[in-house]
Amino acid sequence: MQLIIDSANLDEIRELVDYYPIDGVTTNPSIIVKEKKNFLQLLEEIREVIGCKRELFVQTLADHAEEIVKEAKYIRENILDKLVIKVPVTKEGIKAIKALSEAGVRTMATTIYTPLQGYIAAKAGAAYITPYVNRIEKLEGNAVNVVKEIVQIIEKHHFNSKVLAASFNNVQQVHDVCLVGAHGVTIPPDILRLCFSHRATEANVKVFIEDWQKEYGEKSIVDTNKIKI
Ligand code: E4P
Repeated sequence: MQLIIDSANLDEIRELVDYYPIDGVTTNPSIIVKEKKNFLQLLEEIREVIGCKRELFVQTLADHAEEIVKEAKYIRENILDKLVIKVPVTKEGIKAIKALSEAGVRTMATTIYTPLQGYIAAKAGAAYITPYVNRIEKLEGNAVNVVKEIVQIIEKHHFNSKVLAASFNNVQQVHDVCLVGAHGVTIPPDILRLCFSHRATEANVKVFIEDWQKEYGEKSIVDTNKIKI
């Protein structure tokens, strides 16, 4: 199951890639503009931080299929290695996903709200299907069910697509989509950190160290071993 960072902030990406088992980085136009940098330069810097083996997801902006394909080509010419082109699932977007997939370009069908949008995108050849969990919930939809049904459609009908759930506002949403079989999650840094941390774990570790220090006066096992008791 893939674990992806949903951010274009270099400091956040650098820290998270260093500490956690991260498979890639997703961006979208709103995430990119927050960084107030040249678009291509920022993408190149992200690539430098994540290396050539992790996937970088970059979204197109155009609203006509031919223009989307042109933008995808432009991004691919400039950003190397494992790149996935994100395309929103409008009618034009599906046409573009179909064309890009036929040309061997890996795509992510994004802004997905319903299982049938997921089905059409998988049928069009998208490598990733991306339901928007928190945005679905904001509309009173059952986001976990949407993710679950897209996974069912893909697996039952043997599509090659993976469900990479996105748009998370809390840890529970991430937990729920993991349980219904999402093949990956892309999570903003603040929520991603919360997924890993627990105050009980921190408290336990503190006690282990205190117990050790009381007996040996040292904090490190290596240093303790040098002391003759
Ligand atoms: C990622 O692929 C999406 O663009 C992103 O997760 C949307 O998240 P938001 O709903 O928190 O903006």
